[in-house]
Amino acid sequence: MAEALLRVDGVYKYFGGVRAVDGVSFSLGWGERLFIVGPNGAGKTTLVNLISGYLKPDRGRILFKGEDVTALGLAERVRRGIARSFQLVTVFDNLTVAENIAVSVASRLGRSRVAYRTLTSYRDVVEEVERILEVFELTDVASKYPTELSQGDRKILDVALTFALKPSLIILDEPTSGVATKDKHSVMERLIKAFDVTGVSSIIVEHDMDIVFRYARRVVAMHEGRVLADGDPASVRGNEEVRRILLGGVYA
Ligand SMILES: Nc1ncnc2c1ncn2[C@@H]1O[C@H](COP(=O)(O)OP(=O)(O)OP(=O)(O)O)[C@@H](O)[C@H]1O
Ligand SMILES: [Mg+2]
Repeated sequence: MAEALLRVDGVYKYFGGVRAVDGVSFSLGWGERLFIVGPNGAGKTTLVNLISGYLKPDRGRILFKGEDVTALGLAERVRRGIARSFQLVTVFDNLTVAENIAVSVASRLGRSRVAYRTLTSYRDVVEEVERILEVFELTDVASKYPTELSQGDRKILDVALTFALKPSLIILDEPTSGVATKDKHSVMERLIKAFDVTGVSSIIVEHDMDIVFRYARRVVAMHEGRVLADGDPASVRGNEEVRRILLGGVYA
């Protein structure tokens, strides 16, 4: 069997008496997309923090590309290809969308000392910025400033900046939160299209069950730090416990 991109192996994280993550295991393949769902306090954010390196588990291992990264910090995991959005990158409000992306690309290429206004004279940077604008459907707003963007475009810009770091795995914790209800679907659709086109793997924590069941091929449902179900949307939806805890409750 081909080696998994990510393997979470019996991972635990307690905060005092709170069992935030209570023995979670799963694997993710190269290019695979996984949605994580669960009620408030289920441990979703803690789990993605353990994967990104923001937190260290009390017990268990995280393997990435076959190597044990459990002891490695955030920066080293980014270098190896794990990038969590809404945490790593800064959006500069005094730079345009294209310039922001150029800064992110340049920092990855080790050219962070180059003044951003001159970045546009580097052919490789320009080509990559154009490709990222296109993939995330930001070309039309390339010369706008972040404050002029819709909430949805701002979210997408943040993900695009994270993507510019060229990760193998991109992690999003509730990417549509704060986005107007009518725009949630289009934001998720653009993100997913970008991930599919580029082949990057993704883990997406999402509250909105409509969105999850519409866009997911694989879903992990969590409750009280544990995995209730892991599989295709139909099987997760059909799971007794998932029905009772997730679909029968606040999501009814
Ligand atoms: N740094 C912390 N210190 C103490 N308790 C924490 C900490 N972080 C999380 N917890 C607790 O761990 C449990 C899991 O929290 P977590 O944020 O991972 O849940 P979640 O599934 O992301 O919830 P939400 O849907 O509300 O974002 C909760 O009971 C939370 O209060
Ligand atoms: Mg959370």
